[in-house]
Amino acid sequence: MATTLWGKIYYNDTYAGILQQEPSGRCIFTYDTSYLSSSSQPIAFTFPLRKEPFISEGDLHPFFDNLGAEGWLENAQAKALKSSNNNRFERLLGFGYDLAGAVSIRDPEPRAHIQLDPVDEVTNAALRGRASLSGVQRKLLIVKEGNQYRPTRTNELSTHIAKLPSGNLTDIIEVEYLTTLAVKKLLPEDSTVEMEIATINSITQPALVIKRFDRIISNSKITRVHFEEFNQLLGLHSGDDKYNGSYEMLGNFINTTPGCIPAEADRLYRRILACLIVGNTDAHFKNFAMLHTRDGLRLTPSYDLVAANRYSQFHTIALSIGSASNLDIGNLKPKHIIDLGRGFGLNDKIILDATNELKRNLAAAKQAISTAKIDCSLKLRSKLIDIMEKRWNGSFDSIGPLLSQRQNKGAKHKT
Ligand SMILES: Nc1ncnc2c1ncn2[C@@H]1O[C@H](COP(=O)(O)OP(=O)(O)O)[C@@H](O)[C@H]1O
Ligand SMILES: [Mg+2]
Repeated sequence: MATTLWGKIYYNDTYAGILQQEPSGRCIFTYDTSYLSSSSQPIAFTFPLRKEPFISEGDLHPFFDNLGAEGWLENAQAKALKSSNNNRFERLLGFGYDLAGAVSIRDPEPRAHIQLDPVDEVTNAALRGRASLSGVQRKLLIVKEGNQYRPTRTNELSTHIAKLPSGNLTDIIEVEYLTTLAVKKLLPEDSTVEMEIATINSITQPALVIKRFDRIISNSKITRVHFEEFNQLLGLHSGDDKYNGSYEMLGNFINTTPGCIPAEADRLYRRILACLIVGNTDAHFKNFAMLHTRDGLRLTPSYDLVAANRYSQFHTIALSIGSASNLDIGNLKPKHIIDLGRGFGLNDKIILDATNELKRNLAAAKQAISTAKIDCSLKLRSKLIDIMEKRWNGSFDSIGPLLSQRQNKGAKHKT
């Protein structure tokens, strides 16, 4: 890379500052003085409002790095830009209009031409929108027009995300649909993304269509709502960092960050337990996120709920539970669930209350999987129910007795 690259950063439609990358790879983000003087929101948790630049040696700052595409979309972007070097910043500049949250990146000298893929309709549609979204599953950014969905046009904001069937993970969209339904039943008071399996204009395959929680439509105008996932909040990079840590780090972030509320540690704890029950082993840092609100950071609805345990390559729980790292979900024990609760700063009464809530709703969750009106095999439904039953019996059922045993022991010591 011979030249300095730079882009203009916007928060919704307001110009917020400049991000540049020097030939050495060093990246610098600087707020514009107009943004600093207009009582604006920080663009990221890691970028509090200040006039001094934020410098990241050798690489993009985690906030920007995690906005970039991954997997097939990132490869398609690199090909479209005919980019010979492996530069994430260049891809963000080319495809930074529609990103996760309220921030966008605009190239001051946009490329007039982007090489579209002559063969693949999905890749073409994904590139045309100048959008980036992380995650490895094939997905498209789409808008709802009347009762129909279509891919976004160039520099148009999306309202929904479409996830498409993926070669080696059979029935992946049906699995995500059913898993999400089960989690909704397990935690009826929590919020979970809204979705349906639907067709998209000009795309052959049906897709899982998910409503974006970071877009609001009012008087036909789409506004971006800001959020960050935990790789961004914790200052971790894209790639494998999302697996490098523990669930307790999420609870600790909520418990120690000004503006967060302790009730959300309880809420998140229940979410993680629900993930474990349904076999969502791939619940890593990028699959939990918080909205920027006027009162502080608040959990987004839960998303990317997939009973990955159904696939042979996903039996290891994505993050550590206390000191238990690379834990096979089959080896998850009641003590792990209790330790996790304590790591979240929760007392035994709340831990028991959380498991009792899940116990009460287990039958409804299984029933939802059995009766969901989607086109999928009985075998798949049975498999997902079987995963939940096994997990309940193996890891959850004896939490109550174990807690009272521990309490009795504690009481005896005191007397
Ligand atoms: N409903 C949604 N609204 C807004 N952003 C979302 C939504 N669902 C997912 N995202 C964002 O998109 C990223 C990728 O989506 P995800 O469902 O996790 O895909 P994958 O299965 O490929 O990991 C998430 O990490 C999150 O930042
Ligand atoms: Mg994901």
